[in-house]
Amino acid sequence: MSKKRFLRWIYAFNYTFITDLQAIKMNEFNQQAALVTGAASGIGLAIAHKLLAEGAKVALLDCNEKGLQNEFAGYKEQVMLIGVDITDEALVQETVDQVLAHFGKIDILVNCVGITGATNLKSHEVSSENLHKVFEVNFMSCFYTSKAVLPSMMAQNYGRILHIASIAGKEGNAGMLAYSASKAAVIGLTKVQGKEYAEYGITVNALAPAVIQTPLVDALPDVQVKYMTDKIPMKRCGTLDEAADLVAYIVSSKNSFTTGFTFDLSGGRATY
Ligand SMILES: NC(=O)c1ccc[n+]([C@@H]2O[C@H](COP(=O)([O-])OP(=O)(O)OC[C@H]3O[C@@H](n4cnc5c(N)ncnc54)[C@H](O)[C@@H]3O)[C@@H](O)[C@H]2O)c1
Repeated sequence: MSKKRFLRWIYAFNYTFITDLQAIKMNEFNQQAALVTGAASGIGLAIAHKLLAEGAKVALLDCNEKGLQNEFAGYKEQVMLIGVDITDEALVQETVDQVLAHFGKIDILVNCVGITGATNLKSHEVSSENLHKVFEVNFMSCFYTSKAVLPSMMAQNYGRILHIASIAGKEGNAGMLAYSASKAAVIGLTKVQGKEYAEYGITVNALAPAVIQTPLVDALPDVQVKYMTDKIPMKRCGTLDEAADLVAYIVSSKNSFTTGFTFDLSGGRATY
């Protein structure tokens, strides 16, 4: 073989090899089915796009059904778009049953639904009603959805569950009692579930972001946002891409020896 022909062959071989590698990477979640809550906005929206781009079939749940339609209608049979209030346990079970009937399985559950409730209040000023509401949306939703999907994950001996918690749950943000306590409860749930299902091929982890610029943060008083961003050593908000990239790893099959753990996404704020 001439030198020129040999070099052309090497180039063609490398090109095919690299293209194949890229194809494998793009299809990380091929053949997998995921359920993402809170997918019409912010972090849940970014995660849904990431899982879809990497080949998963995804059921997207949010009370904002119109938002889901606007964002995802183009994906056709790769998605199920379901408007549901996640605080209704019976409705959550019914929805999970529908998803299991349609996709045949759920490999991945990502819980992104969340509200801050009233903020910039001292504990003695917090209404019990608001506290209950925030716990229903932030904590009970994680309980309802994981309770509904776990039996099928146990049956297939595989599953990846991720609850989006918050740095507020680790450290406690002053002025955010309901939010911080509900996220601490999510971290507690994660620790328990991680241990309970460790022998079933199921990992259960949480993610604790500091501040990611989303509509949830836009709706907070400036003083509350400043309180949170001032504590970030990198002196900036996290991006949606940074959140989606870390989540894609946590819910992938590569993340096989970490469970019951709360991953940090805080620009250096969390040191434990
Ligand atoms: N953005 C941040 O800086 C930040 C930081 C730490 C943790 N988090 C957590 O990340 C998650 C996502 O936050 P985000 O900033 O993307 O919020 P977001 O407000 O942009 O999105 C939340 C979504 O949840 C949906 N939702 C709310 N209540 C619902 C209900 N009862 N039933 C069904 N859907 C409901 C909303 O319609 C919305 O689409 C939340 O759990 C939040 O607490 C966010």
